[in-house]
Amino acid sequence: MPRSKQVRLDDIKKQILDKKVCPELAKSATQLVFGTGSSDADIVFVGEAPGKNEDIQGEPFVGAAGKFLDQMLEMIRLNREEVYITNIVKYRPPNNRDPLPEEKDAFLPYLQAQLEVIQPKLVATLGRHSMNCLLPDLQISKVHGQPKRYKGQVILPLFHPAAALYNGAMRQTLIDDFALIPSIIKKIN
Ligand code: URA
Repeated sequence: MPRSKQVRLDDIKKQILDKKVCPELAKSATQLVFGTGSSDADIVFVGEAPGKNEDIQGEPFVGAAGKFLDQMLEMIRLNREEVYITNIVKYRPPNNRDPLPEEKDAFLPYLQAQLEVIQPKLVATLGRHSMNCLLPDLQISKVHGQPKRYKGQVILPLFHPAAALYNGAMRQTLIDDFALIPSIIKKIN
């Protein structure tokens, strides 16, 4: 019998721990923040790295940016149990600094493994860090809201909800881009 998607995801999480990926980050963080939601999701959201709240709770996007993400999901009649949410880097960087290139490189195979298991119709990247891991050399200010095909996967670059939270123009752009998701999914179908 094929192993269930959830079992395969649990196995990827175990590999990160067993292989001691980014041991320095692991040491300074409270815990690994692997991902949450449906292993059968049509859409996977990929953020940057856990922040303080995520580090404490062990779940991605549970702080202010996460509340904004929840509101935008509600706007397109979805909730976080129906999608899958993760980050490129899975430990909180100290003092919320940007993840380093070598940290993103170290975690990329595990993100790719998660996507391989879930097989979503759409991967929505949140912010430039996760976008550039999957779509190198693009500028988010130029390509946000435009679905791109890369290595057989449809990727929608979006601004990061934390960056957009207190910036009126960017906030509206993110909301407008988010509103495109249902029609993009329909087209893929
Ligand atoms: N910002 C991110 O990129 N990821 C989180 O999980 C929380 C905030």
